[in-house]
Amino acid sequence: MMTDAELLARADAAAARAYAPYSNYDVGCAVLTRDGRVIEGVNVENAVYPLGVCAECTAFSRAIAEGYRPGDFVVAAVTASPCGGCRQWLAEMGVERVVFRHGDDVRTMTPGELLPDTFEL
Ligand code: THU
Repeated sequence: MMTDAELLARADAAAARAYAPYSNYDVGCAVLTRDGRVIEGVNVENAVYPLGVCAECTAFSRAIAEGYRPGDFVVAAVTASPCGGCRQWLAEMGVERVVFRHGDDVRTMTPGELLPDTFEL
């Protein structure tokens, strides 16, 4: 099974494929599924700035389109500290933990720690 450090290395490598010509801030995300696959995402920006999507969203959207469901994911590794909206995504997808870079640190937190009192329907 893949270690969290190896998964973060996959996110680092994926970040090189980001499309971020407006912010020049490349982000990669790698998600480990319960059946052992790694699904990667990158941020994809747009000239109409609000239309840009985060790396976490592209990774999970790709996974969902392939048939995975919330609860099928173990770890998400992200090259940046997840934004507020992505914290809601991470909660929705039910990952057990999130490994992310924060400056020079690597942090590991649960979705509940990242977003206390999470909104749920
Ligand atoms: N970004 C992500 O991809 N994920 C995050 O959690 C934080 C922010 C992207 C969005 C935008 O393309 C760039 O980083 C700068 O905000």
